[in-house]
Amino acid sequence: MTIKPRSLVIGAATYIPGLRNFTGRRTGGTVSARYCYSVWLRHLCMLHWHGLPTTFETVAELGPGDSLGTGLAALLSGTGQYVALDVVRYADSARNLQILEELVALFRNREPIPDQVEFPLVQPPLSSYAFPAFLTAARLEAALGPGRLDLIRAAVASPGTSLRDGKAVCYNAPWTAEMIGDAAADLVFSQGVLQFVRDLPRAYTEMVGWLKQGGIMSHEIAFQSIGITAEWNGHWSCSDTLWKLAVGRRRHATNREPHSTHIGLLEKAGCQVVTDERSVRRSGISGAKLAPRFRHLTDDDLTTSSALIQAVKLA
Ligand SMILES: C[S@@+](CC[C@H](N)C(=O)[O-])C[C@H]1O[C@@H](n2cnc3c(N)ncnc32)[C@H](O)[C@@H]1O
Repeated sequence: MTIKPRSLVIGAATYIPGLRNFTGRRTGGTVSARYCYSVWLRHLCMLHWHGLPTTFETVAELGPGDSLGTGLAALLSGTGQYVALDVVRYADSARNLQILEELVALFRNREPIPDQVEFPLVQPPLSSYAFPAFLTAARLEAALGPGRLDLIRAAVASPGTSLRDGKAVCYNAPWTAEMIGDAAADLVFSQGVLQFVRDLPRAYTEMVGWLKQGGIMSHEIAFQSIGITAEWNGHWSCSDTLWKLAVGRRRHATNREPHSTHIGLLEKAGCQVVTDERSVRRSGISGAKLAPRFRHLTDDDLTTSSALIQAVKLA
C-alpha cells in the first residue's frame, strides 16, 4: 500500500471532535525573517532574470501563513501597498513587527540571499545568492527612509482590511474579494500555497481578475504528497476513496493537481507563462500504477516535484 499507515490513523483521528484543530496549527517558514527575505528575493530575482519588472505599486500574496514577512520584504524593496489573503488568520501584529525590524536590518546590510544550505527545502534554487544588484543603493534608500518605515510600522500594527483603506498593509482571514477589488494589483504571488487550494479554476480566475493588464503572477508550487504516501508522488496512485480516508478533515490537504493543470489554468485565464522553473525528481511510481483520474499525467508531470511559474496577464 502506498499510503503510510500513520497517515490513515491521523486522517481517521481528524473526525474525532476537537482533534481536527491539531492539524495545520502552524504553516511552516514565515516565522523566520531570513526565510521571508529568502523567499521574496527568490521571486524577485526570477522576475528580473526573465525580463519582468521588479517594482510594483500593489502586491497581493495568497496564503502568507504564520507571518506577513514575505510581503513586508516586498514593501522594504519598494512596493507601495501589500495585501495578504489567507483562509486562516495565522499571523499576528507582534510577530509581524518583530520580523519587520529583522528584515530592515537584512536589507540595510544587503545580506546575501539565504541559500539551500540554510533552507534546503525552500524552492526555487537560484544560480546566485548574491544580494541583487538591481536593488540599488538609491532604491533601498527611498524604500527604507525613516518616514516610510514609520508608516509601514503603523500599518503592520494596525493593518487595513481592504486596499481602499489606503494603508501600506492589508490583512484579513478568511479573505474576501472585496479586500482587493478588480484590476488593482501589479503582482500576485504565493509560496507553497496553490497545492492546497480546493477550487483551483476559481482561484486562478479570481487572481487574474485582481491583476491590472500586464500585471504579473509568481507562484512557487509543490506537487508532492507531503508525507502522506511512501513515495513522493504516491498520491497520484491512490483512488479518491483511499485518499479521502488518509486526508480526513485535515485543515490543509494537497489538491493533487499536477504541474500541467496550473499551466493550463493560467493560459485559459488569459496569461502568458514566462517562467517555468521545474524541480525534477525521479518518479516514485510507474505510469501503470496511476489511479484512473491521473492516467492523463505526462512524464513531465510525474517527475515535476515543484515549480516556480511566472506569467503576465495579457488582456
Ligand atoms: C504551507 S502554508 C505556506 C505559508 C507561507 N506562504 C510560507 O511560505 O511558509 C500554506 C498557506 O496557504 C494558505 N491557504 C490554503 N488555501 C488557501 C486559499 N484558498 N486562499 C488563501 N490561502 C490559502 C494556508 O492557510 C496557509 O497559510
